[in-house]
Amino acid sequence: MPAEPAETATPLEQAVLRALESVIDPEIRKPITELDMVDRVVEAGGGRVDVGIRLTIVGCPASDRIERDVRQAAESVTGAGNAAVELSVMTPEQRAALTERLRGGRARTNPFGPGSLTKVIAVTSGKGGVGKSTITANLAVALAARGLSVGLVDADVHGFSIPGLLGLVDDDGLATRPTRVDDMILPPVSHGVKVISIGMFVEPTAPGGRASSTAVAWRGPMLHRTLSQFLTDVYFGDLDVLLVDLPPGTGDIAISLGQLLPNAEVVVVTTPQAAAADVAERSGVVARQTGQRIVGVVENMAALVQPDGTLLELFGSGGGELVAERLSQGVDGAAGEPVPLLASVPLSMALRQGGDTGVPVVVAAPDDPAARAIEQVAAALSSMPRSLAGRRLDVSVR
Ligand SMILES: Nc1ncnc2c1ncn2[C@@H]1O[C@H](COP(=O)(O)OP(=O)(O)OP(=O)(O)O)[C@@H](O)[C@H]1O
Ligand SMILES: [Mg+2]
Repeated sequence: MPAEPAETATPLEQAVLRALESVIDPEIRKPITELDMVDRVVEAGGGRVDVGIRLTIVGCPASDRIERDVRQAAESVTGAGNAAVELSVMTPEQRAALTERLRGGRARTNPFGPGSLTKVIAVTSGKGGVGKSTITANLAVALAARGLSVGLVDADVHGFSIPGLLGLVDDDGLATRPTRVDDMILPPVSHGVKVISIGMFVEPTAPGGRASSTAVAWRGPMLHRTLSQFLTDVYFGDLDVLLVDLPPGTGDIAISLGQLLPNAEVVVVTTPQAAAADVAERSGVVARQTGQRIVGVVENMAALVQPDGTLLELFGSGGGELVAERLSQGVDGAAGEPVPLLASVPLSMALRQGGDTGVPVVVAAPDDPAARAIEQVAAALSSMPRSLAGRRLDVSVR
């Protein structure tokens, strides 16, 4: 029985087909029944069924999981041992139909341009090493845990670190390779977050060499093209939130961001140190100049409460407040708008360890003060209405 004309299916076949609606393709994140992956469900007598599943590509890395989930779903109807699952692969035509359907019939375009309903949040700092990537990775996981559909683009092509922070690396430190379905790239998923990083495309320098050790020389146009390609060729599906981890500095990428993600809102990360605050403020100003709205400041590496109750202010104090205050005032005669300090994330061993092991602290130790502070940022961001900056306010009926 082909999957669609269910009218001719027997009650058992229909029941199994309904059960298969709960099987989600782990990479595309949609039910296999919607992806035309169910080739057949045939009653074989004696209460047994044969199920045929079409995988998108040969050697699909998710095939074991799909087979297991299909068997489990089918056996929830037939009873254990009564479902035979056979895997095959889609024809090029079937695959083309699938990628076209996933794109909603649209041509290859950046789905996050003007009019997009996705909240885009870029995380910037100006200064390097203040914890942008660590905060971004944790924030993404915290937002996904709130039930939002979250994507994360690692736009730091020189020093990508997101795959490692989210455990998307193998034993050699090589980033997970995304699955490709024709020209569509499926982002690997970690803790519910769809992740893409240049680190996933870089070849190791030597056998066993770490991808992250590969030096990549980038110029502005290449950077722009890469970001643009990430946005058009990667299948994120309908996202509630797209987070972008920016490289340190305020250069070309800010301009690309303004062009490619006109709705982007910016979160500025700073340490409590006055010098870092100055640089952070500048990066906020550049973001504004390229048309983005600053939605808040996160202070990171703030005072650590020591076991004896005293505070260890390794990087001083007050930087977050200072940046938020200055950005609220506006610069160069341009009117400011209130920029809140969203949270102050303390120095934390657990946060650092979470980054090293690839299990973010919001998952590994949710009661850690740093995890709680990041949770506070997630709560604040998810309660903010989407920005209308850069968006055409044309009214269209969908
Ligand atoms: N609150 C914190 N407590 C302890 N360690 C932290 C904290 N935040 C970040 N770190 C550590 O500081 C280092 C730098 O963090 P991270 O890579 O996230 O910074 P970054 O701003 O993204 O850096 P870059 O500018 O190079 O992209 C990492 O080793 C990370 O584990
Ligand atoms: Mg970083």
